[in-house]
Amino acid sequence: MCNFLDFPSLCNIYKDYFKIGAALNYLAYTNKTIESEIAKKHFNIAVAENDTKMDNIYLGDNNFNFSDADVFLSFARQNQMEPRWHTILWHNQYPQWIFSDSDGNHASNKLIEKRIQNYVQTVFDHCKDQVISYDIVNAALSDKTGKLRDIDEKSPWISTLGIDYIEKLFNWAHEANPKAELVLNDYNIESDKIKREGFYQLVQNLLHKNIPLSAVGLQMHTSLYGASVKEIEDTINLFGKLGIKVLITEMDVSVYNYKEAEKKNFSTEILENQANRYKELFESFKRCSRKGFVEKVILWGITDEFSWRNNYPVPNRKDIPLLFKMDGSVKPAFNSLIL
Ligand code: GLA
Repeated sequence: MCNFLDFPSLCNIYKDYFKIGAALNYLAYTNKTIESEIAKKHFNIAVAENDTKMDNIYLGDNNFNFSDADVFLSFARQNQMEPRWHTILWHNQYPQWIFSDSDGNHASNKLIEKRIQNYVQTVFDHCKDQVISYDIVNAALSDKTGKLRDIDEKSPWISTLGIDYIEKLFNWAHEANPKAELVLNDYNIESDKIKREGFYQLVQNLLHKNIPLSAVGLQMHTSLYGASVKEIEDTINLFGKLGIKVLITEMDVSVYNYKEAEKKNFSTEILENQANRYKELFESFKRCSRKGFVEKVILWGITDEFSWRNNYPVPNRKDIPLLFKMDGSVKPAFNSLIL
């Protein structure tokens, strides 16, 4: 079986089209696993899987812990990879303390807003000269309505920061670094028509108000059963035509049909189907890159063994959504991209 070292660099092969990145875990950017070596050879963008999220950094008022984020940034720098910052505001990984005041009562909206604004400013100050591209707001849309997610879908942002919270966040970020690439990132935009329409309206509205949005991020957690290549390409073109970039921010290709419970044997046929899906999608991204729409494609992980998909949406269901195996061997999906 061929090893990742036996092949030319993946990101080099695509260099005329887009950069190619991967989300890295702490072990990877502390050089503790083979994923570090794979990343150095095949990727030129790095994203921290968790260590640049608010819950890991914002520990209290004026109490920021950038130590793990700095290890990530330094790994990227030492290996000539562009670091991306994921993510400033997300309803899933934020610290609870921001909602309490010093007496343990519920903090006022004014205080919460001040804290978030301070967070944005501090992250941007810290990352100045190091990071160009930031996911500012992640997963803002409701899966049910395609409109902004609210408290009934676990998002505290509308009720505390207001209905225009996305505008505020982008404005603060832009003031902190006018040159930064500011991204609105979300999932299932390519596969869910209602969400796509909601996202389109939201983006149009932000652009209409001159909010400094540079790009949309399509997470692209897809599968063998996901949206067709045409639907995906049409989605990229739809947003590209608005005059903003489209980033593929968290791609993986599960071999399951979402919550399908029965574990699979990963047959040659499944591996070949996955290889074809990767190949067709990368060909589609190339077409979109020729139009100037796509400049960055990022995978959510490096080896199957470390993928979040092994536990989501079904816990303990082994999946194989990525390009490499833990022993460093490459999968047909990788081969399909370099041929
Ligand atoms: C979402 C988030 C990511 C990551 C993945 C799963 O897509 O945007 O930060 O948590 O889920 O790991």
